[in-house]
Amino acid sequence: MEGQGNQIRALNFGSLNLDYVYSVDHMVRPKETLACTDMQVFCGGKGLNQSIALAKAGAAVYHAGLIGEEGDGLLLECAKAGVHTEYIRTISGKCGHTIIQVDRDGQNCILLYGGANRRMTKEYIDEVLRDFKEKDILLLQNEVNLVPYMIERAYEKGMTVVLNPSPYDKEMDGSDFQKAFQKVSMFILNEVEGEQMTGEAQPEKILLKMKSLYPESITVLTLGEKGSIYQYKDERHQQRIYPVKAVDTTAAGDTFTGYFLSSVMEGMPAPEGLALAAKASAIAVSKSGAAASIPLRDEVERF
Ligand code: RIB
Repeated sequence: MEGQGNQIRALNFGSLNLDYVYSVDHMVRPKETLACTDMQVFCGGKGLNQSIALAKAGAAVYHAGLIGEEGDGLLLECAKAGVHTEYIRTISGKCGHTIIQVDRDGQNCILLYGGANRRMTKEYIDEVLRDFKEKDILLLQNEVNLVPYMIERAYEKGMTVVLNPSPYDKEMDGSDFQKAFQKVSMFILNEVEGEQMTGEAQPEKILLKMKSLYPESITVLTLGEKGSIYQYKDERHQQRIYPVKAVDTTAAGDTFTGYFLSSVMEGMPAPEGLALAAKASAIAVSKSGAAASIPLRDEVERF
């Protein structure tokens, strides 16, 4: 990889999924057979979506991750958005994929198959990290395996680790994850993940617990219709949402994460970064699909 002077780069080691999206009247219930009104295949995965959001926001982002034999479209989608794709590898077997129901209110529920995303090896991770340096950012979610290993190696190199602990699972309560969490500089999470991480349900209590558990880290807590809150030590900033008619909420959180992180990379003050991210995710909510719904920077600025 060519060096880019002193520009901060983000390496996103994350999932790439094919999203099979079914439009339904309501979420299917146990024992029910439900006909869909529409079906589309989109590029998605929390990793891919966040890389695309970063690239569309204007950041220098390198995606690393594994795709199966049917994953060419995922690679193309990243490249088309301006994501650096040279670290993405194709392996034998199936890509990660999801089955997503979107109901008439634009709400979703997601069934996730890890596939290639769960076949990371330490050798592959070491090989990619070798090309990154101090102050570069490592962005992670929890749809790939070996996340604690990635955090530990990146931290040793002096990289800044940003974690979106999504989807939160019980493995994250284990000692490897808990030890690695201490090396995370910024957590970007929603209130469900906040509750899973801290055992607290109220946003205020989640934030206080995050501060006591990780006193040196920034927490950005997203609260759905109640907006988002940034916390670093005793500094707090709150941002409302920009109301839109919800068509499909898939990837709204990923859009927020990518845009907010890009604002940090640009050195933008937190309140402005939150506003930019809130606008970008409002636009994403008003469109169908995951990656396909992520707006370009121009569109966000004009919103
Ligand atoms: O956050 C949205 C993403 O979660 C979808 O694109 C889907 O692939 C799931 O991973």
